[in-house]
Amino acid sequence: MKIGIPKETKNHEYRIGATPSLVRLLVEAGHVVLVQTQAGLAIGYDDQLFVSAGAVIVHSIEEIYECEMVVKVKEPQPNELALLKKDQILFCYLHLAPDPVQTAQLIEKKVIAIAYETVTDAAGRLPLLIPMSEIAGRIAIQVGATCLQLNHGGRGVLLGGVPGVAPAHVTVIGGGIVGTEAARMAMGLGADVTIVDKDLNRLRALDALFGPHLKTLYSSTANIEEAVSQADLVVGSVLIPGKLAPKLITRKMIKNMAHGSVLVDVAIDQGGCAETSRPTSHGDPTYVVDGIMHYCVTNMPGACARTSTQALTNATADYTLMIANKGWRKALAEHAGLRQGLNVCQGHVTNESVAHDLGYAYMPPSSLL
Ligand SMILES: NC(=O)c1ccc[n+]([C@@H]2O[C@H](COP(=O)([O-])OP(=O)(O)OC[C@H]3O[C@@H](n4cnc5c(N)ncnc54)[C@H](O)[C@@H]3O)[C@@H](O)[C@H]2O)c1
Repeated sequence: MKIGIPKETKNHEYRIGATPSLVRLLVEAGHVVLVQTQAGLAIGYDDQLFVSAGAVIVHSIEEIYECEMVVKVKEPQPNELALLKKDQILFCYLHLAPDPVQTAQLIEKKVIAIAYETVTDAAGRLPLLIPMSEIAGRIAIQVGATCLQLNHGGRGVLLGGVPGVAPAHVTVIGGGIVGTEAARMAMGLGADVTIVDKDLNRLRALDALFGPHLKTLYSSTANIEEAVSQADLVVGSVLIPGKLAPKLITRKMIKNMAHGSVLVDVAIDQGGCAETSRPTSHGDPTYVVDGIMHYCVTNMPGACARTSTQALTNATADYTLMIANKGWRKALAEHAGLRQGLNVCQGHVTNESVAHDLGYAYMPPSSLL
């Protein structure tokens, strides 16, 4: 199969859909891999590394979109949507539920769009979202700590405190992958951490993992109100897969936080879990509402693009190879988890949540195989 790896063009997005190591695996399996020039330059993968791995370097995005399959990181940008062609396989993050414009174009182009974020494994987890959630959870504490500095507009609080001065309070809402890694980092820096989840078994697992240093709280409006009002830093990390995030943090709760406190709403890619959240970019990541700094970047892992690319492609490699080796129909027919990734196929919406949220008829993927 001929596979194209474009240079990402979203704001400050330096990740890439394949490392030289993944390119080598694909080439050794008999595929032809085209990589757009300088696609990995910013993260230390120059064209020569890709050539050594067996790739063909091309100069234009048009040549990439001539390929049978395009493997990338973020959803196609407007110039890329225009280049998509019928029956082309697109394998990347799509996040369609909050994006009716992209969804309509993928339908119109009759592509086979497989979204990383809805592929499942045998345990029902999201193996291609997990590595980015691990990274975003860890970054949330790094950026939160920086935003809390006075020179960045915060209230001048050090997360870990010092001997004789109490540490800062961190409240994490949603104790999944992002929440766990945020809690781990915050506790590692010595902060006083509370994690809120509606799943009691998840809270039990977190309690067993971290012991008495982590405070766990059941998710209720009263508990969230109290935990947010006491926090110097709030991390929003809830997820109901495929759905818009529930608005658990109200404007009133934000008003009750101490001036100069910080909200990092990681769940912003699903619409955000605070009433006051709106998407921002790495170019202009923060804004202030009622004295509270908001950081709502939709592609946080892009800030640590080299680590993120390696972590992402570790997870996508087997799936990319499976699709390339078997063709999309056979690969999806044989792998139920990969089938869950099919969001749009030859003019039909094949993900039930996306169809429901955007008002399309749902076509089960199995009926198209
Ligand atoms: N901004 C970014 O760059 C970025 C990067 C990675 C992930 N994310 C997003 O972060 C969010 C979290 O991802 P994840 O991988 O940790 O998901 P996850 O499924 O592992 O965890 C979500 C948690 O939220 C909990 N939850 C659901 N409803 C709740 C409620 N009402 N109250 C409290 N908890 C509730 C669930 O029980 C679960 O434990 C997702 O929206 C994901 O897309 C964003």
